[in-house]
Order: sequence, then structure tokens, then C-alpha cells
Amino acid sequence: MPTKEIPFKGFGSVAIHAGHTQDENYAHLTPVYASSTYIFNNAEQGMRRFNGEEKGYIYSRWGNPTMTEAEDKISALESFGVKNKNGEQVQLKTILHASGMGALSTLILGTLKSGDKILSHFSLYGGTQELMEKVLPPLGIEVIIVDLRDFNKANEAVKNDGKIKMLYLETPANPTIQCVDIEELTKFGKSHNLIVAVDNTFATPFLQQPFRHGVDYVFHSTTKFLNGHGTAIGGALTGADIEFMEERMTKVHRLLGGNSNPFDAFLLTQGMKTLEVRMERHCSNAENVAEFLQKHTSISKVNYLGLSTHPDHETSKKQMAHSGAMLSFELKNGLDAGKKFIDKLQMCVRAVSLGTCDTLLSHPASMTHYGVPKEKREQYGITDGLIRMSVGIENVADILDDLDQALV
Ligand SMILES: Cc1ncc(COP(=O)(O)O)c(C=O)c1O
Repeated sequence: MPTKEIPFKGFGSVAIHAGHTQDENYAHLTPVYASSTYIFNNAEQGMRRFNGEEKGYIYSRWGNPTMTEAEDKISALESFGVKNKNGEQVQLKTILHASGMGALSTLILGTLKSGDKILSHFSLYGGTQELMEKVLPPLGIEVIIVDLRDFNKANEAVKNDGKIKMLYLETPANPTIQCVDIEELTKFGKSHNLIVAVDNTFATPFLQQPFRHGVDYVFHSTTKFLNGHGTAIGGALTGADIEFMEERMTKVHRLLGGNSNPFDAFLLTQGMKTLEVRMERHCSNAENVAEFLQKHTSISKVNYLGLSTHPDHETSKKQMAHSGAMLSFELKNGLDAGKKFIDKLQMCVRAVSLGTCDTLLSHPASMTHYGVPKEKREQYGITDGLIRMSVGIENVADILDDLDQALV
């Protein structure tokens, strides 16, 4: 039976039903197709499958029914209610990957070549930054980093360098929760024929749909809010040029080998079904937590997009349905205070990663950024006393109690 083609009114229904194809044995959920390869009835059929005349699975690095459901669900969520210039529903194609970094690798190697440059901004997930600073330059792809919240800087960079081919945005960004203006930067990028790509991991399509602003690609670490339960690493690359996605990107993805697997895809699909209700609770809890932290005497600064004191508050209001569930705060007494606070947590979890049901807190100066020289990390706003928090969906009173007893 085909995927349900119902004109859903709400995002929550799309999250539950989109992408699902009824299994021929009438299993309610698409099973985990733990099969590396698929049978051809005869050589003719094999030939038709290989030359694309007949649709069907061949080999699981290339595709698998459990993975297809997750891919189609992500496309449906990123495009829900999004129209193109002609007022037609936007169509998207998603390719699932083993990780967010896998999806990013396909994006870059599928679109750029030696001699091309990427224009991006200061605050990026550490892994993305390392890939851009250490792995891409020896391949001849360079990255220019400017503060893209200042539009003049973007203009100046592109005017001075005709080799810039991609505008790469992560918004809100990890770990500082900075935002850049997707609409303005996409208009600018398109007027200079740049490929525009957005890492939408922190916001999810429930809060922000970059394809509304005409971007070319969205990528996710599905490990985070999309999965929502911390059960699997994964990544997704979604594109608006279906032909390019089906040909060049599919080829690059298959040959780089960063494919997902049926079990992780199954977990992702089940997780995404509750995205709307989880995000609503994540966001309302985060608002309460930010208010609480802002009043606390041990804290000098709270970085939360919902607070009018956040420098990117207005930008986030323009493009996000809510300020999200990620925040960071600075403890007045620096490194020692940060370590003590983290050690005293009882219910909230001391861990990197984000977007799970459980509240997760990390102390970058003693954990993720321990090896980064103090001057360098402080340049990016990662001070000794900075704590990053992914607000979970527990009862907010319990989150607040735990923070209260851990803060001195
Ligand atoms: C914003 C962002 N993008 C990309 C990644 C990389 O994703 P993954 O760990 O799934 O490879 C992360 C990981 O933390 C992230 O936070």
C-alpha cells in the first residue's frame, strides 16, 4: 500500500504518519529490514533495477525500506506547509546517514571541488569547525569565517573572493546559541549564485524550516532532537533539487559509504513521531529554566534566545516558532564553580550531546573544550564558568530543584 497521501492539517500528524508505507504482512510499524541485500527474480529484473527502469531495493548501503521511511518523514517535516515561488508545495529528498558528520561530508564532497571556498561564521559545532579547518584544506577546499550576523562582513568577503561557492549556516549555533538571519543571508547568497546550506539540528523543523527562505540544503544530526531519546547516532541531508539529490548526491553518498542502518533508522522513525509534543515541553521547560537561572545570584549571564537580553533575540523571533530548548549560562566563580556545579547534579545528566528527553548539562572548559587554549575558547564565548544545557522534558519542578541544590 502506498504512503498515506492525506492533506494533514498539523505538523504532529505529519510527524506520526508521513513516510509510512503499509508493510505487506500488515505489521503496524515498518519492520527493521535487517537484510544487507535483496533478491532479483531473474537477471532481467536485476538489469532493470540497476538501470533504474524498475524501482526496488538492491543493496542496503544504497537504500533499505526502514531507512526510506525515516528519510521520507524528514522530507515531509522540513516541507510541511512550505510553498515555492509559484505557490506550489515544495518537494524535498532526504538521504539518511550514519551521523550528522556523515551527512555533512556528503554535502561538501557532493557540491564542492578543489579551489572552492565556504563562507561561514564564528560559532559552529566543534566537529564541523575541525572538519572545515583541518580536513578540507588539504583537499583544496578552504573556509572563510566571519561574523555573519554583520551583513557587511558577508558582503565584503564575497566581493573580495570569487572562489566562495557555499554559504554554510548553523543556526542556532553550538555552543553559544548565536543565530544568523536565514532569510537575508539566503537572498544575499542566491544573488551571488552561492549554494546555501543550513544545519537545523538545534531548532528542528518544528521550530524552523529553512526551505521557507529558499535554501538549497538542510542537514541534521538526527542524533539530537529528531531521535529525541539518545538511542542512535544519525544524520540526514535534505535537498530541494530532487534530480541533483537523486543523481549526484545519491552517488556520492553511496560511494563514501556513510549510510545509516535499519535499526538506527527504526529508532529514529519512532522518535520523530513525538517531535511536536516533545518540542513543546522542551521549549516551555527551557523558558522556565532560563527565568530561574537569570534570577540566581551565582550566575552572571544566561544565553537563551527567549530572553530580550540575548543579542540574537530578534533574529530568532523572526525565523523560529519558539526559542528552543538549548541554553548556556556563566557561573560567576569560573572553572572551580563550573566543576563543582556539574558534580553536584543529581537528576540531570552530566553528558555531552543534546536533544534527549533527559536534561543534559556539560561544562565545556573541563570537557569538550578542555584541550583548547583558554584565549582561543574565550574568543568564542566559551569561558571557564560556562555551562551548556539541553533542557529535557522531565517535570520542570524537578529540573529546577536539581539546579537549585547544585548551585551555591
Ligand atoms: C549542531 C550540530 N551539528 C552537527 C553535529 C554532528 O552530528 P553527529 O554527532 O551526529 O555526527 C552535532 C553534534 O553534536 C551538532 O551539535
